Amino acid sequence: MKPRVLVTRHVYPAAVAILQEDCIADYRDTYDVMDEAALVKRLRLAKGVVCQLTDPLTAAVIEQCPELRVISQVAVGHDNIDVAAATARKIVVTNTPGVLTEATADLTFALLLAAARRLPTAERFLRDGKWQRWDVDLLCGHDVHERTLGIVGFGRIGQAVARRARGFSMRVLYSSRTPAAPEVEQELGAQRVPLDLLLKQSDYVSLHVPLREETRHMIGVEQLCQMKRSAFLINTSRGPVVDENALVAALEEGLIAGAGLDVFEHEPRVHPGLLEHPGVVLLPHVGSAVTSVRSLMCALAARDCAAVLRGERPQHPVNPEVLG
Ligand code: NAP
Ligand code: GLV
Repeated sequence: MKPRVLVTRHVYPAAVAILQEDCIADYRDTYDVMDEAALVKRLRLAKGVVCQLTDPLTAAVIEQCPELRVISQVAVGHDNIDVAAATARKIVVTNTPGVLTEATADLTFALLLAAARRLPTAERFLRDGKWQRWDVDLLCGHDVHERTLGIVGFGRIGQAVARRARGFSMRVLYSSRTPAAPEVEQELGAQRVPLDLLLKQSDYVSLHVPLREETRHMIGVEQLCQMKRSAFLINTSRGPVVDENALVAALEEGLIAGAGLDVFEHEPRVHPGLLEHPGVVLLPHVGSAVTSVRSLMCALAARDCAAVLRGERPQHPVNPEVLG
């Protein structure tokens, strides 16, 4: 009998067609998010799940789904999945790296430019009918070209952002646990420095680390105090990497100039202090939101899910140790 796979939420249709070749797809074609109890109820008899970053694949859920053999996430970040619990049960976890790297780097740069040059404020000013004439100091912002960009987490997306910064003649610093290869540093003109030096020297600090226990609140009061008063914090990684209360306080006290945020600590709720602050540009987690990219992500997750259930090696295992 074909194995049963739960697709937790709406996906691009090609993904469902891929699954249907080898599996029975239990497709929830809805945008609603299931809580843990609803997820367990629907997942209990499934061998696979194609899930999204909104789905709580916790240890408790995994424990109550004895048939589960593969969890395929339609995203590169997988902090909603308890990978340790899955690994303990020999459940393969897969994700979708690579296909979204350039789109997310584009969005990061758009956010940086929008924050620096106050684009949302300027557009609102025009739409509100407030534009009367050209004034010498109307809606002035900050330079981007030839400024210093500090990249925290120098993986696929961090490096793609550095590549864009070259076009703006920016000085690029990065901080990471592992140094990049010398040829990568040379090609991107990037210099590895400790985080505190990066925070002190950068005009723009852009976050690209995954959310893990060690990166939760990596940017808090102490780190924000080290940044320049004229600096901007850009976050397209995960909300909890930043202590949002500390960020709001830093913005209110003028410890930093502004921020560009695509992700939030308690998505989709946004801290009122961020909503109110004019120096902050806010986006609803759209880093990879390009139709072709999202479609590829869905297809990749479906293909890897089906591959595991056929007994084949998936393209992007997060916990390859369970594959033997
Ligand atoms: P990646 O290639 O794995 O890069 C992450 C980098 O962070 C790695 O180089 C890793 O290197 C480094 N890192 C991990 N822990 C660190 C720490 N404590 N300090 C400094 N560096 C650390 O992942 P990616 O594809 O670039 O994606 C990065 C993240 O972006 C994802 O995990 C996801 O959360 C987020 N994302 C968001 C969107 C969006 O829509 N906003 C879209 C795509 C991705 P070491 O392990 O060697 O330190
Ligand atoms: C999106 O946030 C992702 O991690 O792919």
